[in-house]
Amino acid sequence: MRSKWVVWALPFLALVAIGFYRPAENAPRALPLAVIFGSEINGYLTPCGCSKPMVGGMPRRGTLLKQLAENYTLLKLENGDLTKAAGRQDELKAETLIEMLNQMGYDALNLGKYDFLLGMDYLRALQMQFKGAMLCGNVLEGGNPAFDAYTLVEKRVQGRPLRALIVGLISEQHAEALRHRNPHLSVVPARQKLDALRPQIETMGDLRLLLFYGTAQEAEQIAQAHPYFHLIVYANGGDGPLPTKQVGQTRLVFAGNDAKFVGIAYLSESAPHEIARVEHVRLTEDFKDDEQIMAIKLGYLARVEAENLLALVPRRPTLNGSGFAGSRACMPCHSEDYRIWQRTAHAKAMQTLIEAKHDKDPECVVCHVVGLEYEGGFQSMEKTPTLKDVGCESCHGPAQLHAQDPETHRLGKAGAQSCMQCHVPAHSPNFDFETYWKKIEHGFKKE
Ligand code: HEC
Ligand code: HEC
Ligand code: HEC
Ligand code: HEC
Repeated sequence: MRSKWVVWALPFLALVAIGFYRPAENAPRALPLAVIFGSEINGYLTPCGCSKPMVGGMPRRGTLLKQLAENYTLLKLENGDLTKAAGRQDELKAETLIEMLNQMGYDALNLGKYDFLLGMDYLRALQMQFKGAMLCGNVLEGGNPAFDAYTLVEKRVQGRPLRALIVGLISEQHAEALRHRNPHLSVVPARQKLDALRPQIETMGDLRLLLFYGTAQEAEQIAQAHPYFHLIVYANGGDGPLPTKQVGQTRLVFAGNDAKFVGIAYLSESAPHEIARVEHVRLTEDFKDDEQIMAIKLGYLARVEAENLLALVPRRPTLNGSGFAGSRACMPCHSEDYRIWQRTAHAKAMQTLIEAKHDKDPECVVCHVVGLEYEGGFQSMEKTPTLKDVGCESCHGPAQLHAQDPETHRLGKAGAQSCMQCHVPAHSPNFDFETYWKKIEHGFKKE
């Protein structure tokens, strides 16, 4: 009898032992829900690093989301404008961002005005690549919806399944802009689209969210006319987060653009369709770069180099008709100025980009060399090594003719305004001519 008891008890004891030694790490845990939201990344994969400290970037977002996932079930939503759609580089950025959103497990992406400027063919290709739902339900292509109006996502929240309805719409204010690139598109007013959808979606899901590419004011009107949403994420609110607003049961939120902040709406643990608290996390240097997201960014830089985008920068003629001579050519006659310049940060501006792995990126090179946007200006380290770095002619203008014949070809004043082509607030927020000039002061001695 006794031995039989032991036989029965053994497997049970073994289970207890396993349970004891391996805490339920792999078992699904009963986590509460948090909705991650953002609007208008606008191509900011990472901050440029021109000044310190700088906020934002997708690799830091990756780290934050991994931290949050330890304590919350996450629903991840992005609202509009992956990039500004200004050319080939933004296409590469859009593809890169889709890859990053996939890596982070995004559930839905609503499209914005600039996304449509990528063109419908391109958007379709991105849609194929995106693992979440690409939404924008009120855009018609030849009379038919071009994208889904909503998706229903199921998450396990506090041990139970929770279904979240996510609707995506764009403001009809952008109809003209959409048609500019895609003449066959039209936009049904967002509220009209919701009127039509209402019987279908009003009671769908446990939680109802709207990604709306439009302003706070328009979002508020929607919340009044369609009071069945729990959360509306809007857009077009500037680069910082805005205070949330409660309209009936709907919370209106906006976390700022340019990927600087991450919006988090925490749902109440007692009533999982009620938003308990909204937070906007500023992505400071305290957040490490997530290695996987960073690897995707390096892949993007490799494509920028492989496609040689640097060579495709449009060029315009110089204003004074002169070519560029390079800083070294000034040395024989302005040796003291040259000596001073060599010791300034300007003379290592290209090295800075090489270290940042952005030396083939036209978006950076333009301010870290001489004359990238001009005929005869910097092309590459191989072809135009003397025009690397911020040289004499970055401020004084092209001076080849002057260097050949200084008496006939005088150069005008460079002046404080010459600094402003590069020391713009986004890249040099502390710029002040007096203090900055003191660090590079030269040109008082005649030689
Ligand atoms: C609009 C012009 C402009 C563009 C575009 C630009 N930079 Fe800069 N960069 C500057 C200026 C100006 C500074 C110096 C800022 C200061 O000290 O106030 C700077 C400084 C830097 C520094 C810091 C150097 C140091 O030693 O402190 C890094 C790193 C840098 N840039 C990298 C980049 C990268 C990477 C890009 C592209 C993603 C980029 N820059 C694009 C103008 C620009
Ligand atoms: C062959 C000698 C020579 C070379 C090379 C030369 N300069 Fe000059 N530079 C002069 C002389 C001479 C003046 C007039 C000085 C004066 O009369 O005060 C001058 C004047 C200037 C001035 C004051 C504005 C003006 O035109 O009077 C600037 C700025 C200047 N040079 C910049 C440059 C730069 C930048 C380079 C290199 C691309 C360069 N120079 C190459 C001889 C030269
Ligand atoms: C063609 C773009 C460009 C122009 C024009 C330009 N700068 Fe800069 N400047 C830069 C870049 C890029 C850096 C960062 C270089 C690095 O460290 O790699 C920089 C850095 C500096 C620094 C060093 C900042 C520090 O904290 O040490 C000073 C000072 C400065 N610039 C002053 C000026 C002044 C004054 C002018 C105008 C007379 C001017 N710059 C014009 C691009 C420019
Ligand atoms: C970051 C911008 C910048 C760079 C780089 C720079 N300069 Fe200047 N330079 C100025 C400014 C600003 C002045 C003040 C006079 C003016 O506004 O033209 C000046 C003054 C001068 C003067 C005296 C001009 C006069 O009117 O008397 C000379 C000569 C000169 N620079 C030559 C050079 C040479 C040569 C180099 C490269 C070795 C160089 N500069 C690099 C901005 C720059």
